[in-house]
Amino acid sequence: MAKLETKAVPQHIAVVMDGNGRWATKRFLPRVAGHKQGVTSLSRCVQACIDRGVAVLTVFAFSSENWNRPQEEVSGLMELLVLSLAGEVPRMKANGVRLHFIGDLKRLSTKMQTGLANAEASTADNTRLILNVCFNYGGRWDIAQAAQKVASSGQPITEMALDRAMALAHVPDPDLLIRTGGELRISNFLLWQTAYTEFHFSDKLWPDFDAAALDEAIAVFCNRERRFGKTSEQITSKVA
Ligand code: IPE
Ligand code: IPE
Ligand code: MG
Repeated sequence: MAKLETKAVPQHIAVVMDGNGRWATKRFLPRVAGHKQGVTSLSRCVQACIDRGVAVLTVFAFSSENWNRPQEEVSGLMELLVLSLAGEVPRMKANGVRLHFIGDLKRLSTKMQTGLANAEASTADNTRLILNVCFNYGGRWDIAQAAQKVASSGQPITEMALDRAMALAHVPDPDLLIRTGGELRISNFLLWQTAYTEFHFSDKLWPDFDAAALDEAIAVFCNRERRFGKTSEQITSKVA
């Protein structure tokens, strides 16, 4: 296992949890079985993030484009969200995890919306890890809803005003974005917030992504030089 420098551990990690379907298909199982295993993998990842001192974890659970999947898979994913809430929320409460659901939740049934709101409320006092679950989320939707909010408030549409209106305004931008499943694309995830995020692509399928794989991603991140437009000399000599 690569040695981790505690001071450099990313404070905010975002994850595109991809590869559940392939994980299931390889085992001759229905795709939904892969999603179920994906929930177990998420639970393990949450614990690993807590253990490593990560403050915020943001995961892509269902994209605005995932509605276009076969109806059976979409309803399986909706059911799984409800079941996972019942199964995981008590543990999250006990582990100090504060849950937020991010996305266009109005498209979900009223019952589901109530379930999500209750899960958020029952973890609202927790401070160990913020877990943002992006559901019916799209990066373009996020930018559009932020622009709408700012425009209707009558303020000028500045970067700062938009930033404050984005769905993840309650957390700093991600330091590290991990995508599992081997694809090298963003798939309409956090388009605005990843302007200076470091990217790490893993060939592991999401259900196989374990604590060692997370440590590898963090170790790679720790060896990157984040320049934010400056020169390397400015960064290393700490000259402004
Ligand atoms: C990601 O896994 C989970 C969701 C999109 C809901 P996939 O279901 O996309 O898995 P693959 O990419 O088909 O293997
Ligand atoms: C991205 O994965 C969405 C989630 C992980 C929830 P997809 O599997 O939907 O992405 P594409 O279709 O391969 O780009
Ligand atoms: Mg996929």
